[in-house]
Amino acid sequence: MKSTIEDKKKLVNSVFTDVHKNYDLMNDIISFGIHRKWKEKFIDWMNPQPYSNLIDVASGTGDIAKLFYNKSNKTSEITCVEPNVHMLNQGKIKLKNIDNIKWINSLAENIPVTDDTYDYYSISYGIRNVVDIEKTLKESFRILKPGGRFMCLEFSKIDNEILSFLYKQYSKTIPFIGKYVAGSDKPYKYLIKSIEKFHNQEQLAELMRKNGFSNVEFRNVSNGISAIHSGWKI
Ligand SMILES: C[S@@+](CC[C@H](N)C(=O)[O-])C[C@H]1O[C@@H](n2cnc3c(N)ncnc32)[C@H](O)[C@@H]1O
Repeated sequence: MKSTIEDKKKLVNSVFTDVHKNYDLMNDIISFGIHRKWKEKFIDWMNPQPYSNLIDVASGTGDIAKLFYNKSNKTSEITCVEPNVHMLNQGKIKLKNIDNIKWINSLAENIPVTDDTYDYYSISYGIRNVVDIEKTLKESFRILKPGGRFMCLEFSKIDNEILSFLYKQYSKTIPFIGKYVAGSDKPYKYLIKSIEKFHNQEQLAELMRKNGFSNVEFRNVSNGISAIHSGWKI
């Protein structure tokens, strides 16, 4: 069991080390730019209030932090949490013009911040990569303020058979695009496998409830290619 956990940690870390320089470009290519729309929908539903604070976990190159900062009229405080130093450094470069931003090099399962600290917790395309989802959810609950909101954007299960079939066929080409553009197919083989193995919308909602969240809801984007989950610490 311990070695399985270590294996996943090492695999995920090496995947993002391989991909960090081309991460943004590849996202734009393989999603035809649509990931930007999904992230905008995510922040629109979150609807951050001015002078609030966010912890963005698995922050990668900082897309969510940037959208949150702009949506809250540049009045917010943001903490980005990312275990892969290469991804974290890409984020720092991309968001160098944002004030009030802090970077923590840490896993989602164990974040070195005090209880009841944040108004919002976000994890975008990160929860599929963590080793222990329940520990991650418990940790997010601990660090949110009472009344705080957890939001997750993640690949999910498509609710339309034809689209699902087409998506599966398209997925097979993604590792080839990765090899051609980014020089390696390994991260993209991992991406496809990890999406296939991940929970569906209801299963993730149930795990959120089980780990303390109230008023749990989800919304599909693009027929469930991705889903946005929301829950509250009450
Ligand atoms: C697909 S990227 C998502 C980046 C960004 N949030 C976005 O939406 O574009 C996933 C990120 O999760 C990070 N990650 C992997 N395992 C993690 C863990 N256990 N805790 C926190 N982040 C993790 C990776 O290093 C990577 O930067």
